[in-house]
Amino acid sequence: MNSIQLIHHEHYSVLTINRPQALNALNAEVFTEIDSVVSAKLPDSSRLLLVTGSGEKAFAAGADITEFTTLSGEEARNLSQHGQKIFDKLENYYLPTIALIHGYALGGGLELALACQMRVLTKKAVMGLPELNLGLIPGYGGTQRLPKLIGKGQALYYTLGSENMDADTAIKNGLGDFLVEDQHEGVLFVEKFASRLSGKSRIAASLAQEAILNGGGASGFDLESANFCKAFESEDMREGVAAFLEKRKPIFQHS
Ligand code: COA
Repeated sequence: MNSIQLIHHEHYSVLTINRPQALNALNAEVFTEIDSVVSAKLPDSSRLLLVTGSGEKAFAAGADITEFTTLSGEEARNLSQHGQKIFDKLENYYLPTIALIHGYALGGGLELALACQMRVLTKKAVMGLPELNLGLIPGYGGTQRLPKLIGKGQALYYTLGSENMDADTAIKNGLGDFLVEDQHEGVLFVEKFASRLSGKSRIAASLAQEAILNGGGASGFDLESANFCKAFESEDMREGVAAFLEKRKPIFQHS
């Protein structure tokens, strides 16, 4: 892969957008390469996918504006739908996806972060949807996902005014889930989470993940009960309960 890197560590994998010279702007190649990652499974040992940007300055400073100059309206619709489809895969990925945001996450870059299931911000994170400055609007899910996280009023304020949020504001608004000092601390945070996850049943983790991500409303409780039932039918549940009663650590077979 040219514009992203995918590296597997002991308990997690890292997708890094690797165009630091363009502040990791998302061009067609980046989208194609992200698509190839989120359309496939990671090695069994990986329990989550960390998404981040290379360099000190940016997570991703938006869609690559240089690709916009010759597009027709219809081509723009296709571009938007194509990006939405790829980000949907990320949002519904079978493992937790975590954006580690340092520096700029603007426009399409913020939309990429919004499509991740969790967001960890360093103190230097700067987030916003500046598309209106270009006479444009967000096209990769930003108008839909941002209001869900921060409410319609705040989403209108930040999108229509093209005002960026710093890390503290983003955490206060619910756009960021966790605040860390810097990239190093962010990676340690994710590593620790992945290591904790590695001791859990993959089946139970995925059932809980599905209930949390797809829940909400009355049907969410049904989904929870259905997945509770599936967990009860797993070998891992028998092992977990037996290990507790025998005062030992469980050894899950993920079955
Ligand atoms: N698309 C394409 N190239 C981009 C880009 C984008 N979204 N964002 C930054 N770049 C490029 C710049 O053109 C510049 O390239 P150059 O060195 O060949 O001139 C390089 O990345 C560095 O950016 P620069 O603007 O010089 O850095 P800065 O620190 O002065 O400013 C930003 C940083 C993020 C404020 C500024 O780059 C910016 O406003 N980017 C566009 C953000 C945006 O509107 N995103 C939404 C797109 S829909």
